[in-house]
Amino acid sequence: MPESYGPAAMRGVCMADPQLNLFAADEPAPARPTRLPPVQLPPHPVAPVADVLASGAATCNVCQLCDLNQPGTKAVYGSGQPHAKIMLIGEAPGAQEDATGLPFVGPAGQLLTKIFTSVGLDRERDVYITNVAKHRPPGNRVPTPDEIAACKPYLLEQIEAIDPPIILLAGATALKAVLDRTGITRLRGEWIQHDGRWYMPIFHPSFLLRNASRDVGGPKWLTWQDMQKIRQRYDAITQQLGQG
Ligand code: URA
Repeated sequence: MPESYGPAAMRGVCMADPQLNLFAADEPAPARPTRLPPVQLPPHPVAPVADVLASGAATCNVCQLCDLNQPGTKAVYGSGQPHAKIMLIGEAPGAQEDATGLPFVGPAGQLLTKIFTSVGLDRERDVYITNVAKHRPPGNRVPTPDEIAACKPYLLEQIEAIDPPIILLAGATALKAVLDRTGITRLRGEWIQHDGRWYMPIFHPSFLLRNASRDVGGPKWLTWQDMQKIRQRYDAITQQLGQG
């Protein structure tokens, strides 16, 4: 402790100014407490996750941060469990997602549902699903870097509110947008620790639809291996949290 702040320094002040003499000259100053007594924070508003998500979705519906929100299109903000331990991030809504306002409901989404079910996870109960871009790019093109950057605050807010320990990045666009990494084929199935969370890049279900072989070493087989790793980490985390 610097001498100017300690009891010795305080005694020096006392001698110079009797008004400040809190202790008798021969009485040692009481030891400073090493631990502060517990204090209770005054009541303060902490927005429930569902409120943060509802407000994010409402803002997203009228968002003008890029040109993707055109008349006749719907925002696809996200769906699933607001307290999920697993979040899956895809690329952008397609035609069926745009029509319904829900992520991953077209053919790729149906495969995704099966992929989760294959390891005993239910996408509504156990997972929160969203995309890098919340509006459908025309013709299903990949969202541009500017569109991705404009939309990123929504995604970051979702991650912060839901606070999932596990985040699955489905495909190259999500991998690039979230971790600024390239090489989905090399990185899929690898755990990447970042900002206190476990990220795993996985093949995008649309890629699996185009490469449907179940051969050992093929994309579907590799995804099955990845899902088992994901299930194991999910079990370890839920056990640790006493929710297993
Ligand atoms: N592909 C995606 O990346 N997201 C969807 O929501 C649907 C298809």
